This record gives sequence, C-alpha cells and structure tokens, in this order.
Amino acid sequence: MLDRYDRKINYLRISVTDRCNLRCRYCMPCEDFVMLSHDDILRFNEIVDVVREGVAMGIDKVRLTGGEPMVRRDVVKLVSMIASVPGIKDLAMTTNGVLLDKFARPLAEAGLNRVNVSLDTMDPLRFREMTSGGDIDQVLRGIDAATDAGLKPVKLNCVVTGSSSEPDAEAVKKFAGEKDLEVRFIHQMDLGKGEFSIVEGGEGGDCERCNRLRLTANGKIKPCLFSDTSFDVREMGAREALFAAVSQKPAYGTTCSHNQFYNIGG
Ligand code: 5AD
Ligand code: SF4
Repeated sequence: MLDRYDRKINYLRISVTDRCNLRCRYCMPCEDFVMLSHDDILRFNEIVDVVREGVAMGIDKVRLTGGEPMVRRDVVKLVSMIASVPGIKDLAMTTNGVLLDKFARPLAEAGLNRVNVSLDTMDPLRFREMTSGGDIDQVLRGIDAATDAGLKPVKLNCVVTGSSSEPDAEAVKKFAGEKDLEVRFIHQMDLGKGEFSIVEGGEGGDCERCNRLRLTANGKIKPCLFSDTSFDVREMGAREALFAAVSQKPAYGTTCSHNQFYNIGG
C-alpha cells in the first residue's frame, strides 16, 4: 500500500515484549521505567491477526523486536504462527544475542529467516559496563549458533556515539570481517529530542524511503518511530488501525515523547 507521499509500505516491525535481559544505558536510561502489565501485552493470536491484515495490505517483510524478543515466553511458537501466514517473504528478528545460543536452531526450524544481533563493542569489560552486567561470550556463542543454524545473513547492529571509526566500532568491524558478517552503524538516538540520522549500511532513519510501520507490545500501530501518533488495534481492530497508520504516516519524523527503545524496539 502507498502512503500519502507515495512510499510503498511493506515492512512491519513488531515489538513482542518490553522486557529485556540486559540494560543498555542508551535504551533503558532511567531506573524507574514502568513495565507493561500482562493484560496489556498482545496475545499471540492478536499479533498474528495484525500480521495477516498487514499482508493483505502489502506487508511482506516482518521483524520481531523487543525489548528482547527471546524473553517472551514461547517465542518459537509465535515465530511458527507468523511464518505460516502466506505472503511473508522475509521474517527476521533483532536480538541482543544473549539467548541465541539456545534459540537459534528452534527459531530457524520454526521459520525465522535471519537475525540482527546488537553488538557495540568487542571488549568484555566495556560490554559488561554498557549493558549493565551482560556477558559478551554468550553473545559471541549466539552469533556462531545463528550462523550454524542458517539464520543468514547474520547482521550486526552497532550503536556509535561519535562515528563509525571510533575504537569500539572499528573492533566490531574487524570482527564482522573475520566472521563474514554484515555490520551496520547506528548513531545513538534520542527519541524525546528527535535526534536521529540514517543508519550506515542499513535502511533505517531515511524518511524519504521509509517503508515501515511498527506494532508495539501493547498493540499500538505507530506510523513513525519519531512521532507520538499511534492507533490501537484493540480499540480499532487490526485492519482499521493499519489503514489509519499508513494514511497518516508523516513525511518526516520529529519527536516521540512517550516511548523509549525498550518498548518500540528501535
Ligand atoms: N539509539 C540508537 N539505537 C538504539 N537501540 C536501542 N536504543 C538506541 C538508541 N538510543 C538499538 C539497539 C538495537 C536496536 C534494537 O535498537 O542497539 O540494535
Ligand atoms: Fe535490551 Fe536491546 Fe535495550 Fe540493550 S538495547 S537494553 S539489549 S532492548
């Protein structure tokens, strides 16, 4: 489906949970964030309903995000339910990789095509510090498991504060070269201040070419990451909420005051 600016909208990013097993400083900045309650989180059949209606409108690319998607109970089941919707050409997941060692194979068998793994440094101590306690070895094992399970191309998402030539980013680039992985550099963003820019090596952040819609874990379709506009699938129904989001997708992002990355999934 085309929006008002003739952009073809074919990509749906689904946040399946707002929980995460890491605490990256730039994603969960404050101590006192409020988590969604169980009842607010969409059930699997509600998510699949949105996917089905989305496909009917021209969505053919779906990505699961979080929080961390693998902390959602029975995520393998959800992947198989989504994968069985006819018309999806690309089903991917963005993950921190912590649980990938365990989940890569079952997810691939359930129909997941590929993964993007977040990795901002190669230094175990810096990783621990940046994620508030994460173990980089788990992530590195996860990346190997994803490659072995055929979740390819495995791509790395590397958030940079300055440029893609800062030391942490250079180390990630070197690692990617050795392992034959793609890497994309994402400039650290601030949703509230509306600070965003294009993703080096990726498609995100380029408003004129934006093909995305987002579904939050509590069932709001957002036409733009940098906007407060959203449409509730429980109130409006999946079809109407999707149509409203496409028809009101803004030309450019501005700011988003009431969401953080952990609940819209980047
Ligand atoms: N700026 C840029 N990227 C972010 N992510 C999380 N928070 C931010 C931020 N403030 C990224 C993660 C991950 C994806 C889900 O979103 O690094 O790759
Ligand atoms: Fe978790 Fe990803 Fe946010 Fe880090 S960036 S806290 S891994 S959701």
